[in-house]
Amino acid sequence: MRLNKYIASAGICSRRKADELIAAGKVKINGALMTTPGYIVEDGDKVMVNGKLIESEGKKVYILLNKPLGCITSMDDDKDRITVADYITDIPERIFPVGRLDYNTTGLLLMTNDGDLAQKLAHPGHKVTKTYVATVAGVISDSRINRLRKGVDIGGFVTSPAKVKVIKQNPRSTVIEITIHEGKNRQVRKMCAAVGNKVQKLERVAIGDIRLGRLLSGHYRKLTRDEIEYLKSL
Ligand code: URA
Repeated sequence: MRLNKYIASAGICSRRKADELIAAGKVKINGALMTTPGYIVEDGDKVMVNGKLIESEGKKVYILLNKPLGCITSMDDDKDRITVADYITDIPERIFPVGRLDYNTTGLLLMTNDGDLAQKLAHPGHKVTKTYVATVAGVISDSRINRLRKGVDIGGFVTSPAKVKVIKQNPRSTVIEITIHEGKNRQVRKMCAAVGNKVQKLERVAIGDIRLGRLLSGHYRKLTRDEIEYLKSL
């Protein structure tokens, strides 16, 4: 967005007045004086007017966090436990998690201040796929894999067909990749328990085509323009 428009959309003044402020040397970008009204404000730019950081009204941010083990998917906690917000250090916008992951589930968590998109993705009718890598106790037989694929009863709810593939198997544990498009509470844990294999470790590796990749635990990145367009097109 052009700098003058950005300042105006933050509700500070009109675009014309913004031009005047810029020309008068009252505007800094990332700490440096900026006198070009046509400067394009990029994601992450810190715009200061008269020494005060401003935020454009309509600025939407889209973050992908690799949620670590042992933190809750919430921006604050009345019991003072570690939350995902503790890992977000330099995003001034008031973002929130899209959906949730269990305390002991790791991996891909989207966070945004775009309420429309968050609502759309969370809507049960929306069928956006979520892919998990689960380590389960013991060997998981072909018939159990097929039951997971077809759908299992997780306590009053029969899951829809899922994609399941075995990644690694040894006598004590098995690693599977499972793709579902519902988001029932603790669904993957309940599905695996329903066929007799307790989940020992669970990581979400993708939402639709958006992948966690090699992002380190506790780290985050902004989604690319293509990823944002993709999510909006779902
Ligand atoms: N399924 C689970 O069991 N837990 C999660 O956190 C996500 C999916």
